Amino acid sequence: MTRFKIALLTGDGIGPEISNSSVAILKTLSEQFHLRLDIRNVEAGDRTLKRLGKALPQESIDVIETSDVCLKGPVGETAADVIVKLRQLLDLYANLRPAKAYPQVSNYRQGIDLLIVRENTEDLYRGHEFEFDGGAVALRLITKNACSRIAEYAFRMARERGLQKRVIAVHKANVLRKTDGLFSRVCREVASRNVDIDFNEMYVDAAAMNLIRNPNQFDVLVTTNLYGDILSDEAAQLVGGLGVAPSANVGDNFALFEPVHGSAPDIAGKGIANPLAMLLCVKMMMDWWALKSADESARRAAEALEDAVLCTLARTRTPDLGGNSSTREVTNSVIRQLKKEPRS
Ligand code: NAI
Ligand code: MG
Repeated sequence: MTRFKIALLTGDGIGPEISNSSVAILKTLSEQFHLRLDIRNVEAGDRTLKRLGKALPQESIDVIETSDVCLKGPVGETAADVIVKLRQLLDLYANLRPAKAYPQVSNYRQGIDLLIVRENTEDLYRGHEFEFDGGAVALRLITKNACSRIAEYAFRMARERGLQKRVIAVHKANVLRKTDGLFSRVCREVASRNVDIDFNEMYVDAAAMNLIRNPNQFDVLVTTNLYGDILSDEAAQLVGGLGVAPSANVGDNFALFEPVHGSAPDIAGKGIANPLAMLLCVKMMMDWWALKSADESARRAAEALEDAVLCTLARTRTPDLGGNSSTREVTNSVIRQLKKEPRS
């Protein structure tokens, strides 16, 4: 079995608490499924900036680049210097943000199972901002190449998911005629080569409304960086909130998994952070590794972890989901479920 090298970036705020929980789960998975995991700690974020004068030191980049994957906790105010930089540096062009309604999370709408495929390397997040006397300006970069590969990715995901087989391109091409106009045109071209998948377009403001009005109509949404960032927080709230929202940043050969949420300074150190978003990242990471290295045990580990999370959600929840359990209690419940799973 191949050794799976994981760079673990614990981050700031609740990052270390939910990273500890992830390490405990990874250890259990490795015992239960005989996985050979090699976890390497890397540091980045606000605390690293304070300590070393840099939010993302070169040594951390080196460890990440020589690993198979990066599992990242949230960082704080240095997010732009850490995650936005890593996405561009490692060319992790597809940001996958699933929103799936688990029946175990009560009070939320059922049946939602959508995936936001967000372009991850361009748009206003390129960081080209300038000040001038009396104002400031930000440059929005959209290229044909980036639109094309993100659209291709979205169609592939719609096919692989095998659900509604529908892609909706979200933009505002009626106003931003050059930038979103290009995105829309390229999506249409890619759609014409993927006729087995249903294709539609929606303006971003209408998409924001329709996510609330009728979220079940969505399967895969493909969009540019900023719109994807905003819509994915909205979609997360539809299915239980940021505490259960994982994401993947995927390139051709490398991937980085991180919760959608930030460092939650308001609850940091209280022991009540919901670890499930990061544990669902571990699930996505195992699925990705299973595909990449044709490792059947990793696939079974991913499946068992999702089941264990669902069983836990039915009875043990942190306060963000209306419960009164701690991070540790939720983690222990997931571990107990994993140990109960029959092994074949
Ligand atoms: P946030 O996601 O940290 O928190 C928003 C709200 O959700 C807070 O009330 C928080 O307590 C709650 N929350 C978030 N995750 C939770 C969890 N796992 N369990 C329970 N409750 C949870 O967003 P906010 O407050 O806008 O940002 C805080 C910091 O995080 C900022 O410094 C921001 O730059 C950073 N950030 C970092 C990101 C990253 O590393 N990728 C992404 C988003 C924000
Ligand atoms: Mg965000």
